[in-house]
Amino acid sequence: MKKTLIIATLAIMSLFGTTACAQKKGENMNSLNNKKVLVAYFSWSGNTKAAADYIAQKLNADQFEIIREADYPTDYDECANEAKAEKDANTHPAIKGTVSDMAQYDVVLVCVPCWWYTAPMPVFTFLEQYDFSGKTVIPFCTAYTAEYETLKDIVKATPKSDHRDGICVVTKEMNGVGMDKKFGQIDKWLKEIGF
Ligand SMILES: Cc1cc2nc3c(=O)[nH]c(=O)nc-3n(C[C@H](O)[C@H](O)[C@H](O)COP(=O)(O)O)c2cc1C
Repeated sequence: MKKTLIIATLAIMSLFGTTACAQKKGENMNSLNNKKVLVAYFSWSGNTKAAADYIAQKLNADQFEIIREADYPTDYDECANEAKAEKDANTHPAIKGTVSDMAQYDVVLVCVPCWWYTAPMPVFTFLEQYDFSGKTVIPFCTAYTAEYETLKDIVKATPKSDHRDGICVVTKEMNGVGMDKKFGQIDKWLKEIGF
């Protein structure tokens, strides 16, 4: 009897597991086409901007650039040091501008570079400035090595939202160079998550 119960429980668990997995892969997933989409992005050297521009054009979406009020240094090492200090102090720095009528958007793609294993701190300022409840938030990042916590931290910062699986586009280039070679990877991902 005990054995039957265990087998039945495992069978039910595997059924739910399959469903969750299938949804992750894009099957049985509500289409995001015909939704009003905002592509919010932060970019220091231009890689993420190139991706965000491509995504916005493909999805016919509006764009909002997240810019820290005080410019980051243009020198890589100086920028890296400043970004590290900001992250270590958990500073949420002031950012420029606002999204006009955030309420109109059903879907918000948050496109960022990985900075010190997470998103640049101005992105968290942006995420706390609006009410994302009821919206679908989708993280996207570019990185030299890997996403680390970047995508997860965007999800964590928007607990009242639905989410779709994000992607990390790895590139050794800077300034947007060669990003067009990544558009195929982006196309495949967008299709998988319901666009
Ligand atoms: C301040 C800073 C910190 C970075 N930290 C990481 C990191 O932790 N992991 C990583 O893989 N790449 C890291 N990078 C590399 C960037 O994520 C990568 O070059 C990205 O594509 C740059 O995007 P952008 O051109 O839109 O600024 C860092 C770059 C900068 C400037």
